[in-house]
Amino acid sequence: MPVPKAELHLHIEGTLEPELAFALAERNGVTLPYADTEALREAYRFSDLQSFLDLYYALMAVLRTAEDFTDLADAYLARAAEQGVRHAEIFFDPQAHRARGVPIGVVVEGLGAALDRAEERHGISTRLIMCFLRDEPAESAMATLEAAKPYLDRITGVGLDSAEVGHPPAKFREVYEEAARLGLRRVAHAGEEGPAEYVREALDVLGVERIDHGLRCLEDPSLVERLVRERVPLTLCPLSNVRLRAVDVLEEHPLRAMLEAGLVATVNSDDPAYFGGYVGDTFDAVRDALSLTPEQLRTLARNSFLASFLEDDEARRERYLAEVSAYDFGA
Ligand code: HPA
Ligand code: ZN
Repeated sequence: MPVPKAELHLHIEGTLEPELAFALAERNGVTLPYADTEALREAYRFSDLQSFLDLYYALMAVLRTAEDFTDLADAYLARAAEQGVRHAEIFFDPQAHRARGVPIGVVVEGLGAALDRAEERHGISTRLIMCFLRDEPAESAMATLEAAKPYLDRITGVGLDSAEVGHPPAKFREVYEEAARLGLRRVAHAGEEGPAEYVREALDVLGVERIDHGLRCLEDPSLVERLVRERVPLTLCPLSNVRLRAVDVLEEHPLRAMLEAGLVATVNSDDPAYFGGYVGDTFDAVRDALSLTPEQLRTLARNSFLASFLEDDEARRERYLAEVSAYDFGA
């Protein structure tokens, strides 16, 4: 049985496997510029974040109807369940769909249909987090937040993703202020390719409760000290960092050092269809590459539930934490 865990950094569009991409392309009469799934997989060689984002946005062309989003989420949840996921907080990118003529309502209703059955079918509780594209203007993010208003009963929080460098968190100050007024939880990608300063800004200007990635906080010891002291969770994605060349090889990933420094680190899959593994695979890979101890693995699993947005269901969080306590991580 895999380690029970929460997944807190997962882009649903990044779970689009080549087989499903081709099936949806056929269903929707969309032609993909690849001969077959093998040719598409060949394209999964990335040099940085942007080279990945180019393919990630291009493949979204196959996602057109609510049913497509339901099938996408159902496929993810089935795989996540096999990997020990008990709770998933799922990102989606409404602006990327809106730009293709797919309104946010179609996306949310489609994903929602799968999430409504997730507990019964897959034993997974879920939350949805809508992300703003930081390389688009803040006005577009604000308009997207406005368009999301009829669906806020299904949306727990907001995030910030896409190309980071040159798009500091402060660009989205007003959008996050409005999100806070609406009672939404706040997270942001920061310190993936961008500097440690973006992590500070996400905390101080956007008021985020978790940092997605946050790898480059390590370049600023006083920031690390603050993240430890304030127990700000970091949703790390080690396989993503290797594939997008933020880290050369998994053996050199700073996860173990971050745990030893007392950071509230969690392990997540980011875009598992593209980066070579789902979150259980990621746990196994970091355990082996970094020789993590059973206690460090237990800490990662505990952190995932402690960092999750389960304040509206503390009894559930306690049940999940009890599962982690009862789990045999080996000697
Ligand atoms: N970083 C930024 N934007 C993204 C990512 C990521 O890892 N995945 C999907 N959009
Ligand atoms: Zn991400």
